[in-house]
Amino acid sequence: MEINGKTRTCGLIGCPVEHTLSPVIHNTLAAQMGHDLVYVPFPVQPGRLREAVQGADALQLSGLNVTVPYKSEVIGCLQEVDALAQTIGAVNTLVRTAGGYKGYNTDMEGLYRAMMNEGIRLAGERVIVLGAGGAARAVAHLCALKGVERVYLLNRTLERAQTVAEEVNRTAAGEVVFPLLLQDYDVIPEGTYLAIQGTSVGLSPREQEVVIADRAFYEKVHTGFDLIYNPWETTFMRLVRESGGRAYNGLKMLLYQGIIAYELWNDVHVPEETAQVVYGKLKEHFVKKQ
Ligand code: ATR
Repeated sequence: MEINGKTRTCGLIGCPVEHTLSPVIHNTLAAQMGHDLVYVPFPVQPGRLREAVQGADALQLSGLNVTVPYKSEVIGCLQEVDALAQTIGAVNTLVRTAGGYKGYNTDMEGLYRAMMNEGIRLAGERVIVLGAGGAARAVAHLCALKGVERVYLLNRTLERAQTVAEEVNRTAAGEVVFPLLLQDYDVIPEGTYLAIQGTSVGLSPREQEVVIADRAFYEKVHTGFDLIYNPWETTFMRLVRESGGRAYNGLKMLLYQGIIAYELWNDVHVPEETAQVVYGKLKEHFVKKQ
């Protein structure tokens, strides 16, 4: 594309941002959709987030993504926060408005679109969520919002699981989430479950690590969804598959969180064929990286 005086800029703020795949998503989308827009990663050093957001506004950047470690902290720098993002306490997308930026969370809806795309249902499901950090907390909220029957939320630190469970149950006005210590997985009642892996365990280069190694656990899992996409197949996914379940990685979640952000910035709908073109580019890039 040719950059000219009318080219709009969007970007990513975080620390670090060197390994992000978001430019692949947004620059491919701009080309596919015929928009005069570029997307650039901006590293922001700790302590300089507010300045960065104010500077972006002054430079009239149309939209920003926000990544680690600023998804919660950025809320204090915004003009307005979408209700869903407020509920889960994390913002990953900023849209420029007249008085400053409005914050949204597209991670959660991105995960939902990824699941729909793979034919995974949430309504009426029994779910196991591994982890209670920022990502798992968003997953627990999504589950409650989409009407799952119940969620067993397992974490290494029980207090964190309890805090998330209380928060989600308060919002859901019912007991949907049951917190458990990670090692107590065997108390989960017999049945088949959708298991969502939301911890950082198993991320490259420590690919052989997994939160639960016991094969007996995986007998209860009909579908496993790992939020990690690097490596392509995590040990969690392999164990699900070897026990006869279906397993998915987090690349489609990454894809759709980006697509939803792009839709917010440009007030458009991205057709599914275009989403699939972007997914192809992401996969290509991913394979090259290995
Ligand atoms: P994110 O925002 O990506 O979710 P986070 O908030 O730091 O990151 O959360 C990381 C999650 O991975 C937590 O659930 C963490 O468990 P604790 O709450 O007990 O810290 C989990 N986690 C990280 N390393 C782990 C390990 N070695 N074993 C088990 N769980 C681990």
